Amino acid sequence: MSLPKAELHVHIEGTLEPELVMACAQRNSVDLPFRSVEELRARYVFDDLQSFLDLYYLAMDVLQVARDFTEVADGYLARAAAQGVRHAEIFFDPQAHLVRGVPLREVVDGLVASLRTSEQRFGVSTRLIACFLRDKGPQAAEETWEALQPHLEHIDGVGLDSAEVGYPPEDFRGVFERARAAGLHLVAHAGEEGPPAYVWQALDTLGVERVDHGVRSVEDPELVRRLARDRTPLTVCPLSNVRLRTVAALDEHRLPELVDAGVLATINSDDPAYFGGYAGDNFDAVQRDLGFSDAALREFAANSFRASFLPEEQRAAYL
Ligand code: ADE
Ligand code: ZN
Repeated sequence: MSLPKAELHVHIEGTLEPELVMACAQRNSVDLPFRSVEELRARYVFDDLQSFLDLYYLAMDVLQVARDFTEVADGYLARAAAQGVRHAEIFFDPQAHLVRGVPLREVVDGLVASLRTSEQRFGVSTRLIACFLRDKGPQAAEETWEALQPHLEHIDGVGLDSAEVGYPPEDFRGVFERARAAGLHLVAHAGEEGPPAYVWQALDTLGVERVDHGVRSVEDPELVRRLARDRTPLTVCPLSNVRLRTVAALDEHRLPELVDAGVLATINSDDPAYFGGYAGDNFDAVQRDLGFSDAALREFAANSFRASFLPEEQRAAYL
């Protein structure tokens, strides 16, 4: 599906394709518990979010220097552009690299080296969003915020990701307040595996502008009314939800109920190297399995620009 669209929920580390994992492992002399692209791909069967995260954090160990991050981002931008993505708001996980001893400078400089020429090379404008790993707790998030200070000119927003259940958004109130005071945009994963209460907290305690995933909001009619009233966007990732078994099958996904209730939903890829498809593939999949019309897909694409952090005049140019 090459409809022009914005992608608002993609983890750059989740765009690391197996071929690049093996190439980086070789040139950086990183030992991996798999010997080939095929062996790695064979592991892409997940029971839940944690079983995915275990492999996601393991594979990104091959990313050691700026060049590696540049190549990951270049690869993503080329594949996304081929599926109609014109604007991408890209997550990265600073702590996942800092804990391995990779300096933040390598990560940010590497990503920026790709992103700064993305419009000319791929026709894709970009934003960069640094996510805190919620399972490392609020103190570690505060330390990460400090580590990000020298790089803030390149960072447009902060988010919250990794293992969700047991790590409620309200624990991160302090660091989100600091990010807001610094003028950054605020988003958070909530309601992927976690309960609707976590979505309420993301809205009311963190003050996020968008909720990443948010699909479990559908279990709470009051929350659905709130999201619809405020037009708070959800960045839904349908193929991710199937692969991580938050829904049993795509034709059982409750995205249509959210849309019917007036929620501003967008369609995104999350970790496309692992979940079987990029943004356009996710559009195709919801049309095939949920029966969305061409007009409905155009509305999802329009929503992606409405929900983006592009300036108003740029957003309007896409609508
Ligand atoms: N990090 C990468 N992908 C994620 C997801 N789907 N949920 C939470 N954290 C993530
Ligand atoms: Zn995600």
